[in-house]
Amino acid sequence: MSRKLILAVLFAGVATLFIAAGLQAGLEGSPDVITMENTEAFESHRMGIVEFAHTKHVEDFGYSCGECHHDDTGAPMDDITYEDEVASCFECHSEPGQPERGASKEEELEYYYGAVHQNCIDCHKAYNEETGEKTAPFACTQCHPRK
Ligand code: HEC
Ligand code: HEC
Ligand code: HEC
Ligand code: HEC
Repeated sequence: MSRKLILAVLFAGVATLFIAAGLQAGLEGSPDVITMENTEAFESHRMGIVEFAHTKHVEDFGYSCGECHHDDTGAPMDDITYEDEVASCFECHSEPGQPERGASKEEELEYYYGAVHQNCIDCHKAYNEETGEKTAPFACTQCHPRK
């Protein structure tokens, strides 16, 4: 192989690597599995980080987007797509940290902590009650892997 050709092959290889890295960076934002690690709501994470199987809840478990996404009046947003810019829960449930012990359900909802726990756990509990099985996670370490 001529020196020029070797350089060209090397260059193409490097370019491919860069393109692959670029694609990977793009995929990290994909909502297929969402790494729930909100650093604005929590200075640090005491618990293991929750890997939320986002599209599985739609495709395998059959829920509509509006089960979890709603507008600023709390009305379900069923017509959104994965390409839309969707507001983070924290934009509206904007208190950082954890609510006080004994806070009411409404008070808890002001917190991102309360909003996600109520959304995830209330549905899982209702589902378990309905099916009479305990397949949807409700215990801490079923969602938060042990550190
Ligand atoms: C079971 C609950 C649930 C369902 C159903 C659901 N989502 Fe989500 N979605 C979430 C949560 C939680 C987040 C993360 C929000 C945050 O970080 O504050 C999220 C984030 C997103 C994001 C932002 C992507 C990202 O990487 O942060 C988009 C876009 C999105 N959802 C679209 C949809 C669409 C479209 C549907 C219906 C086809 C849908 N979601 C169904 C809970 C759900
Ligand atoms: C644009 C603002 C906004 C965003 C973004 C938002 N919420 Fe809400 N949420 C509200 C409002 C308003 C209500 C109604 C409050 C009330 O009824 O007092 C509400 C109610 C709720 C409730 C209680 C009622 C119910 O549906 O069970 C839960 C749980 C909840 N939100 C969780 C979430 C989660 C999880 C996310 C992110 C996936 C999210 N919210 C994103 C504004 C928002
Ligand atoms: C509207 C109902 C609903 C909501 C909201 C919901 N889930 Fe689920 N989730 C389910 C059901 C149903 C299953 C499946 C139970 C089964 O396998 O029989 C499930 C299963 C899971 C599982 C175990 C199975 C797996 O493949 O990952 C995890 C973990 C989970 N959910 C996390 C979450 C988190 C985190 C949230 C909130 C961000 C959430 N879920 C919100 C209904 C819901
Ligand atoms: C259905 C899934 C689910 C269950 C069950 C659950 N959590 Fe969470 N938890 C979450 C999600 C999602 C977040 C948001 C993490 C983020 O976005 O940073 C969270 C956040 C937290 C945080 C704040 C972040 C941190 O790590 O310090 C604490 C503390 C926490 N959970 C404690 C608990 C405890 C204690 C239990 C059991 C009583 C529990 N959780 C049960 C899903 C769950």
